[in-house]
Amino acid sequence: MARIPDAFIDDLLARTDIVELIGSRVPLKRQGREYSARCPFHDERSPSFTVSPTKQFYHCFGCGAHGTAISFLMNYDRLEFLDAVDELAKRVGMEIPRDTQQRNVNPDSIDQYAALEAANAFFQRQLAATPKALAYFERRGVSAEIRAQFGLGYAPDGFSALRDALGTDERRMKLLERVGLFSKNDKGHVYDKFRDRVMFPIHDRRGRTIAFGGRVLQKDDGPKYLNSPETALFHKGRELYGLWQVRQANSKIERLIVVEGYMDVIALFQHGIAQAVATLGTATTPDHAELLFRNAPDVYFCFDGDAAGRRAAGKAMESVLPRMKDGRQAFFLFLPDGEDPDTLVRSEGREGFNARLRDATPLSTFFFDELAKDVNLGTLDGKARLAERAKPLLAQIPDGAFGDLMRQRLTELTGVGARDNATPPSPARARLQPQQTQKRSLVRGAIALLLQRPALALDLAPPDGFSALRQPGIPLLAELVSLVRARPEITTGGVLEHFADREELAALQKLASQDMPGEEAKWQEEFLDAMAQLERQTVQQRIDELQAKQREVGLDDDDKAELRALLLEKVRPRQ
Ligand code: UTP
Ligand code: MN
Repeated sequence: MARIPDAFIDDLLARTDIVELIGSRVPLKRQGREYSARCPFHDERSPSFTVSPTKQFYHCFGCGAHGTAISFLMNYDRLEFLDAVDELAKRVGMEIPRDTQQRNVNPDSIDQYAALEAANAFFQRQLAATPKALAYFERRGVSAEIRAQFGLGYAPDGFSALRDALGTDERRMKLLERVGLFSKNDKGHVYDKFRDRVMFPIHDRRGRTIAFGGRVLQKDDGPKYLNSPETALFHKGRELYGLWQVRQANSKIERLIVVEGYMDVIALFQHGIAQAVATLGTATTPDHAELLFRNAPDVYFCFDGDAAGRRAAGKAMESVLPRMKDGRQAFFLFLPDGEDPDTLVRSEGREGFNARLRDATPLSTFFFDELAKDVNLGTLDGKARLAERAKPLLAQIPDGAFGDLMRQRLTELTGVGARDNATPPSPARARLQPQQTQKRSLVRGAIALLLQRPALALDLAPPDGFSALRQPGIPLLAELVSLVRARPEITTGGVLEHFADREELAALQKLASQDMPGEEAKWQEEFLDAMAQLERQTVQQRIDELQAKQREVGLDDDDKAELRALLLEKVRPRQ
């Protein structure tokens, strides 16, 4: 994978004013050194979201959201990493290093996007020129405005309309084939895949056309819908039809409604419910679940009320459970026989459909109903069976209130807890030796100070003797020091970014977001003092080692010289 150089990211974050960036999207209030707001990533009444201009990062004490200007854009504007970097770079007038740009964008995929866009424009022109296709959309109540919003089109009859219009040379033919717009017969003859169909372009997260769905105008004209095959640009398990339009229509997406069909999405939009997306003829995948919750806190799944619909809902449930962090909610809406969201919103209107959504079944209810559906909870055997089915699923829910409540509910229903009781802390571990505690807090204090102001590490002269100290936290402290030396411009946010995939992240984040006691002017002194103490402890550790060796096997000349030097240093520490 292409990487943007760390130094570029550091520079970019250093030049970005995170307060201004976030402030332009969320109203911030100044509070001492920091700014606060109601968290944009979860619902809350009182503000627990803080933005720190000195640390150049944001943090929510409520939901734990945190990060740099880059992660803010990724989460709030829902940009991919590179797009977020690009956006920030534009703001501050920096240019992303050329070689990274080129490595990221495969020149071939640029041509493929262009081919799809050309096809899209072609289909739209054909729609405008084909009365029967226009009449089809009219009959289904799709306005000109919605047609434009969704880029709807028409693929003409015959076998070579698109081919004749766009496949003007060998290279273009190859491109159209690669993006899935052609079919091939036994003899290797290539012809238009979509013929005499109304066309629904499928957009990616940046609004580029990556595939199409095409519907017959009349019943009995072959399969009702044809979709583009999987291509380099289109993986249907990862895309949601309509998500681009939802993002365009809403500055903050309160909820997403997952439906089955293209026309369901469009009909809901047409009736003012601009929050619908469709899975593309597949079950809800874990990738879908992730994408859904990255975009909205509440997700409603609509399914047919029949057995197939319940099965599909079961699949969706399995995909969302591992993503049910606090602040997220999932609901299931089962539709009456023979209806879909398209027919319902047409007959009941926006308010009728919203009322159904308000009555939708919460995930928790659906979960226990579904698992207990053929179980008699009046019997011990039934309770045991429910517990057995529920445990592996409950284990997938991330830690948090939702998981706790679900496990509590299972206990209520069955009398069986979902988790073995956590082992109580052993007395040996609970009773930390005072000396140990003091040492650890020294390391911890140094790390905390470095997180507040990474540049402190620059005041420290190598060699880092302390890194030989055998104490918890020392390797991390040593790593932080060399990180800052290698990247002198790095901010607190940048440090956290560096540890994004590491298990230390949670602890670092906690330290970074706490308010340091003591005066800021004294931080440097405190830090250097802590480091000096650690150096002394390292010296003592080596002295203890050598003296132990002396007692056990004796010392050679080198050892003796070293010990003498160390004992001297102890009285008269290095300057
Ligand atoms: P439905 O058959 O429920 O159709 O397919 P629909 O969405 O109600 O379509 P209209 O209202 O008659 O136009 C739901 C979805 O399943 C996929 C399509 O993605 C469709 O939107 N599908 C359906 C296919 O891929 N192929 C088909 O032949 C039928
Ligand atoms: Mn339909």
